[in-house]
Amino acid sequence: MSRMVELLYLTEEEIIEAGVLDMNECIKTIEKMFKLMGKGDYLLAGPNRNDHGLMLWFNKEEPFENIPKAGPDRRFMSLISYLGGDFDVIGNKWYGSNIENLNKGLPRSIHTFTLNDKDTGAPLSIMAGNLISSTRTGAVPAVFSKYLARSEAKVLGAVGGGAINQSCITAIVNTIDSIEKVVLYDLNVEKGEKIANRLSQQLHVEFEVVGDINDCTGQADILTVATSGKTKPFIKEEFIKKGALILLTGAAEFEESTLKKYRIVSDLWSMHEKWLEDGLSHPDGIASILDWTMSGQLLNLIHNNQYDNEIDDIGDIIIGNKQGRTSEDEIIICMMGGLPTEDVAWGYQVYQNALQRNIGTKLPLWNESYLTRES
Ligand SMILES: NC(=O)c1ccc[n+]([C@@H]2O[C@H](COP(=O)([O-])OP(=O)(O)OC[C@H]3O[C@@H](n4cnc5c(N)ncnc54)[C@H](O)[C@@H]3O)[C@@H](O)[C@H]2O)c1
Repeated sequence: MSRMVELLYLTEEEIIEAGVLDMNECIKTIEKMFKLMGKGDYLLAGPNRNDHGLMLWFNKEEPFENIPKAGPDRRFMSLISYLGGDFDVIGNKWYGSNIENLNKGLPRSIHTFTLNDKDTGAPLSIMAGNLISSTRTGAVPAVFSKYLARSEAKVLGAVGGGAINQSCITAIVNTIDSIEKVVLYDLNVEKGEKIANRLSQQLHVEFEVVGDINDCTGQADILTVATSGKTKPFIKEEFIKKGALILLTGAAEFEESTLKKYRIVSDLWSMHEKWLEDGLSHPDGIASILDWTMSGQLLNLIHNNQYDNEIDDIGDIIIGNKQGRTSEDEIIICMMGGLPTEDVAWGYQVYQNALQRNIGTKLPLWNESYLTRES
């Protein structure tokens, strides 16, 4: 007899009810995920298990009018992975990003997330993915801060005040108890002020909005960077504080000497190396990855044989295979490309919460599979 297959459909409102915005639970889940990454209990796409995902590459010119053209933060991407441990499940985050969305009353990117049974391939759940993604993205720098920030870090600098950095700020303030002030720099100062007003009420911490990135970097014990669009923030070495932890969720530029001098830690360096491989096989070469990867400038140095320091992964640091911070003065730059397993970890936890609390709509994929029916 053919088995009925049904899945749990969860709207954005329903995943909120299921606790997607519970940052503390998300941070715990993401830390658990990094431990599994450190042990190697995961699969990413591709033969070397290091592919961030499959991307539709848009070119500046196309022979057909309707093919999407390249633009700032414009891409479609599918991030697939398996995560082991108690998760033991496969997932796919599928999203489109286009900065023009902001002029249409839509978020910059729109995500759909699917969980699948690892044996049969049957979908377990389809859910609105934006808040899975933004919450897990915020939780990641919080986990990095827990393991790598100097003790008694007092000032959190934030470059960019969009959805993602708001999530990063929330997570870091929730994790690092010693933070007394957040210094926010957004290109759009008015927007920065509104965000600071709202977040200061939610997080009960002082906010200062500055109109110059150097005022932000110059005060920061921890600096979280997540901007979008054409203008990448430039972080000048002379303003970086001793002992600073710089967390790149989005791209930034540095003097080359800065990248060569300070320790780099990543979420999974082999995934960044795969970006380099992909960039080199693109018709525009490495230029094709420089705009949107936070590691692009470093990958370019590596490609030109100008960098050969070791880069550690946070999973190895968390499970004790690699050393954490070596001194209070050490400056550490972290590059977090975003792992597909982060979405699987948090998406699965939210799905479990929804099942326990009876949230969402069960939808049949079929009552009886046409292909395996007996008559
Ligand atoms: N690493 C990851 O896991 C991950 C996941 C999701 C998103 N991201 C990245 O995070 C970034 C931010 O995403 P978002 O959804 O918050 O974007 P958004 O468009 O909603 O917000 C970006 C903000 O940055 C500001 N900004 C732009 N250029 C700036 C500059 N040079 N200096 C200061 N502020 C500047 C804009 O005014 C805007 O407020 C994107 O680059 C995105 O690709 C990374």
